[in-house]
Amino acid sequence: MTNSTKPQTDEFARDVLEGLSATPKRLSSKYFYDDEGSRLFVEIMKLPEYYLTQSELEIFREQAGEIHREFEASSAPFDLLELGAGDGSKTSLLVSRFLDEGAEFRYIPVDISSEALGYLEEKFSEQFPGLEIKPVKGDYFRTLTTLSERSSRRKIVLFLGSNIGNFRDRQAVEFFQHLHDSLNENDLLFIGFDLHKNPKTILNAYDDAQGITSRFNLNLLRRINRELDANFDIYEFLHYASYHPIEKAARSFLISQKQQTVTIGALERSFEFKQWEPIYMEISQKYDLETIRVMAEQSGFAIQQNFFDSVNFYVNSLWKPEFEKE
Ligand code: AVI
Repeated sequence: MTNSTKPQTDEFARDVLEGLSATPKRLSSKYFYDDEGSRLFVEIMKLPEYYLTQSELEIFREQAGEIHREFEASSAPFDLLELGAGDGSKTSLLVSRFLDEGAEFRYIPVDISSEALGYLEEKFSEQFPGLEIKPVKGDYFRTLTTLSERSSRRKIVLFLGSNIGNFRDRQAVEFFQHLHDSLNENDLLFIGFDLHKNPKTILNAYDDAQGITSRFNLNLLRRINRELDANFDIYEFLHYASYHPIEKAARSFLISQKQQTVTIGALERSFEFKQWEPIYMEISQKYDLETIRVMAEQSGFAIQQNFFDSVNFYVNSLWKPEFEKE
């Protein structure tokens, strides 16, 4: 067994065992982001088909001043926390504008990739020499529970890039409820949601011509090979993306191109794949405004303001936590 003493590896191994033993087989997209996966995701964000990044960038470029006004309830210093910060390229637009306007804040990026955080810290320190930056490596949920202890300042939490769309089923509302419980009255939550649109536009975003999304998915099999001592032949699996316009869900699968057996050393188990059997890899949920309003309400927030791009592909929604008055 490799690395079996590391708790993170144990959790990974457990999830892989559970997912590949299920019918249909599945793997969790939260494991996409090892260092190579994070690099590939940066490539995805530059793809012409992956409109999500351009849409959010446009909102920040055009409306950063207005966003700042909505953030600043008072001129008191605040902590700008970003969950799943990635390479921070979009956030730098906000940070730059906030600094120009004399805002006093610390930037706290939270990510599970130490390589991504290291790169981000280096880039931001160079770009914004006066900015205090405190990277935190960790899982969102674990980090959220320690969030309040980390800072007594007012918190503005960024959850950008429609990352919420990768949560399955009711997990999204649970996530927001959890977040609500770690926020105080004057804190704010700023979330990126990809809106529903022409299904072909959405499908193309997850089935790019250069095949980067395919490599991104297959990288998880490589990771299992490396970290869990497995023997997936990645050339025998095919990336397949779909979009369901009623459920507003883009989904990706890896399809076994032949009947094959894969052995995972760390699990001391083999798994049979039938020809054309899928592994469900990822959901990227799309939203309409009514669904967003209901999610906010169910998790204890009120929408303070929505910011749209010029073609209504995307919305950045600013939520205020609500608390029962005693
Ligand atoms: C990180 N997340 C919001 C991306 C998405 O659009 O679901 C991940 C991704 N998967 C394939 N392409 C991008």
